[in-house]
Amino acid sequence: MRSSAPGKIILFGEHAVVYGRPALAVPVRQAQVDVEVSASPRPGTWIEAPEIYLNAELSSLPEDHPIAVVVRRLVARADEESLSISIRSTIPVASGLGSGAAVSVALARALSDYRGLGLSDEQVNAIAYEVEKLHHGTPSGIDNTVIAYNRPVYFIKGQPIETFTTGKPFTIVIGDTGISAPTRESVGDVRRLWTADPARFEGYFDAIAQVAISARRSIEDGQPELLGGLMDRNHELLQKLTVSCPELDHLVEAARKAGALGAKLSGGGRGGNMIALVDQDRAQSVAQALLSAGARNTIITEIA
Ligand code: PMV
Repeated sequence: MRSSAPGKIILFGEHAVVYGRPALAVPVRQAQVDVEVSASPRPGTWIEAPEIYLNAELSSLPEDHPIAVVVRRLVARADEESLSISIRSTIPVASGLGSGAAVSVALARALSDYRGLGLSDEQVNAIAYEVEKLHHGTPSGIDNTVIAYNRPVYFIKGQPIETFTTGKPFTIVIGDTGISAPTRESVGDVRRLWTADPARFEGYFDAIAQVAISARRSIEDGQPELLGGLMDRNHELLQKLTVSCPELDHLVEAARKAGALGAKLSGGGRGGNMIALVDQDRAQSVAQALLSAGARNTIITEIA
């Protein structure tokens, strides 16, 4: 049994979304996780995930290992099964593209199919959220939601999933700093700063919410060109939250200089990826400019 899950980018609203503000995220299908579950010739449940240097039998993994958590949830009597689970991913780890949530979603689906459990999207999403909670402290749930449902989401924590439509397609260039940055740390730092000065940080979150609301309107009204200025404003607010870093700022600046309509970091920050809104015919040259400015990798994606 095989299953895949896409990566994702947050277009607007990261961090503020942890505090109940809306955020917009879309799947990115150019990067994905593929899971294959098959019967194993040797006893036990064997898991192979070369991108994270994992090749182990289930019982040797710690209780809270994210992959083990999903497998133990869905393989009831692990010791009686002889399973081989292969996990391959082209989503960079800890870089804001949702690699962890994509592994949980693809793995839960493949195991559900293999065992004939018939898990719904909602159940798959709930399992992936549990894993996010173990590892991210206080996740909003946006990553697992956009990936489990594989469609654009306008996400507000604790509310039913809401999707959004795209009045006119637009093009995003994604640039990877190559710096892996655990979301847990930036989220924890923002929490400490918010606790120390709630009024100031609530103000930033409200300003980010306004940006996200305007962005949704521009996307649905078929005026994506307005997103450029909103991205710049969102990036400025993320800098105030202290989650940018010199490398992200450098790539954001390089994209703007190369003709992007706007740019911002995407995801937890302090490394990982940034995104830039571009006219389609500029996408290649902006991607090239990002590589020249030190990006490890770029992806061009059309949001339609
Ligand atoms: O997993 P990342 O790096 O894309 O970050 C998720 C977005 C945050 O808003 C920073 C955290 C969250 O739980 O929503």
